[in-house]
Amino acid sequence: KKDTLTIAIDGPAAAGKSTVAKMVAKELACIYIDTGAMYRALTLQAMNHSVDVNDEEALTALLLKTTIELKQTIEGQKVFIDNQDVTGAIRSLEVTNTVSYVAKHPKIRSEMVNRQQALAAKRDVVMDGRDIGTHVLPDAEVKIFLVATVEERAKRRHEENIKNGIASDLAELKKEIEQRDQIDSKREASPLVKAEDALEIDTTSLTINEVAQQILEQAKKIKHTK
Ligand code: CDP
Ligand code: CDP
Repeated sequence: KKDTLTIAIDGPAAAGKSTVAKMVAKELACIYIDTGAMYRALTLQAMNHSVDVNDEEALTALLLKTTIELKQTIEGQKVFIDNQDVTGAIRSLEVTNTVSYVAKHPKIRSEMVNRQQALAAKRDVVMDGRDIGTHVLPDAEVKIFLVATVEERAKRRHEENIKNGIASDLAELKKEIEQRDQIDSKREASPLVKAEDALEIDTTSLTINEVAQQILEQAKKIKHTK
C-alpha cells in the first residue's frame, strides 16, 4: 500500500480549483501541482514558435524538447519554460482561448500525464486539472470534483480581473468559459468528467474557506484510517 497522501481536484474553468488546492496544500504541508499551467505553457511555446496547434505531430515534437517546470518560491508557484519565467504570460487571453485545442491531442495528453505522474511520485501532493482523478492519479486517496454555475464562475473571474486592474467583460468571460468547458468535456481523450469515486462539491454559494474545509475533512478521514 502506498504511504503518500494524494488529493485530486478536478472541475470546469473557474470553479475554484487552484485557489482551494493551494489552501489545502498549505494546510497539509504538501506540494501543489497546477496541471493546467503545463498545458498553458505548451500553448505559449507553440505560439512563440509558430507551431499550428492543430498539428498534433509538430506539437508533440515541440513538447518533447521543451522543459516545463513548476517552481515553489516565496512569492508562490512560478512556471518556467526552458528556464524562462512565463508565470504571467501563460494567463493571457490568447493562451486561454487557445489552450483547449492544444489539450485535445492524445499524444500531448499522454506525455503530460507521464510528466505529472513523475512529479507526484513518492510525495504528498494536491494536483488540480481536468483528468486528475480519472487518469493522472486514479489511485488518489481523495478525489474532489468542484462545480459552480457558469454565471457564478464568470462573475468570479470578472471580480478577479477587476481586483488585478485587468480590463474585463462579464459577457465575454461567460462565453470564453462556456466554450472551453464544451471543448474540454466533449474531447475524446480523457475529457473533463467526474471520476465515479469523486466527491462532487457545488461551490456556487460557498466561500473558499468552506470548500477547503470540506476537502480537509475528507483528507483527515483518510489519514486516520492509515
Ligand atoms: O484555471 P483555468 O480553469 O482557467 O484553466 P486551467 O486549469 O489553467 O486549464 C487550462 C486548460 O488546460 C483547460 O481548459 C483544459 O483545456 C486544459 N487542461 C487539461 O486538459 N487537463 C488538465 N489536467 C488541466 C488542464
Ligand atoms: O482553478 P480554477 O480555474 O478552478 O479557479 P480559480 O483560479 O481558483 O478561480 C476562482 C476564483 O473564484 C478566485 O478568485 C477565488 O477567490 C474565487 N472563489 C472561489 O474560488 N471559490 C469560491 N467558493 C468563491 C470564490
